[in-house]
Amino acid sequence: MIQRREEAALLLGPNAEVSALRSGMNLVLLGAPGAGKGTQAKRLADRLGLLHLSTGDLFRAHLSQGTELGKTARRYMEAGELVPDDVTLAMVFDRLSAPEAAQGFVLDGFPRNLAQAEAFEREMAARGQRLDLAVLLAVADSVLVERLTGRRTCPQCQATYHLVFSPPAHDELCDRCGVPLVQRPDDRPETVMRRLEVYHAETAPLIAYYRRRGILREVNGEASPEAVTEALLGLVEGVAGD
Ligand code: AP5
Repeated sequence: MIQRREEAALLLGPNAEVSALRSGMNLVLLGAPGAGKGTQAKRLADRLGLLHLSTGDLFRAHLSQGTELGKTARRYMEAGELVPDDVTLAMVFDRLSAPEAAQGFVLDGFPRNLAQAEAFEREMAARGQRLDLAVLLAVADSVLVERLTGRRTCPQCQATYHLVFSPPAHDELCDRCGVPLVQRPDDRPETVMRRLEVYHAETAPLIAYYRRRGILREVNGEASPEAVTEALLGLVEGVAGD
């Protein structure tokens, strides 16, 4: 199956799997901070031609542009708390109104609690759309702490590295941009612990929520990034074939 997919991609170009699978596929990646949602969402978006919608990335973009929304979000993010639902939902619905969202999307970091999941479901129904698949990236808390404290990102292109698991080729410089990598302020150990608490209290109940809707699948997020990507593509392919 993998060989067939690679052959198709070689023949048709990097985004060929899009049409080979299904256009309009809408999926959400669930998982704790550091589970690999961002890493995998970028890969899936690229391989399947989907819009990657990361609420964390959107908040960070507002933060760096100094917008009012960014100023509001900063207080919550630096404390490891959730940004209020009304602010988050308005930002997400606005992004999903972009023309490129019509080709399908992969959500990363959203929804984050039951209120967001229910509001999102209502909005999707009003737009005549639905979520096709929710995948939990399962990773133990002890692994998450190591991943988050070793994560570095490029301030220019937002590429993600890990000092041990996926280091840059030279020192702590971005492979693409050559600029020094930075640590996210909320990746400091004390904030990481609070983010994990918030995840277990507020976000983990979404696992049961999507299981009840019959669209939940689980992937071992402790496997290599490449193995996780293949597992995810396999799930997408399975849903597309339904
Ligand atoms: P957000 O940016 O969404 O952070 P998060 O959910 O805490 O997730 P992370 O980005 O930390 O981790 P990830 O799962 O994407 O892992 P990654 O792929 O980077 O949110 C930040 C803050 O914004 C929140 O705390 C909140 O304040 C606010 N916010 C965001 N959304 C919100 C919402 N909907 N409502 C309210 N507030 C919201 O990987 C982590 C590291 O591990 C990397 O170094 C990577 O290289 C490495 N790695 C990845 N996969 C593997 C692997 N398989 N093996 C080894 N290493 C790996």
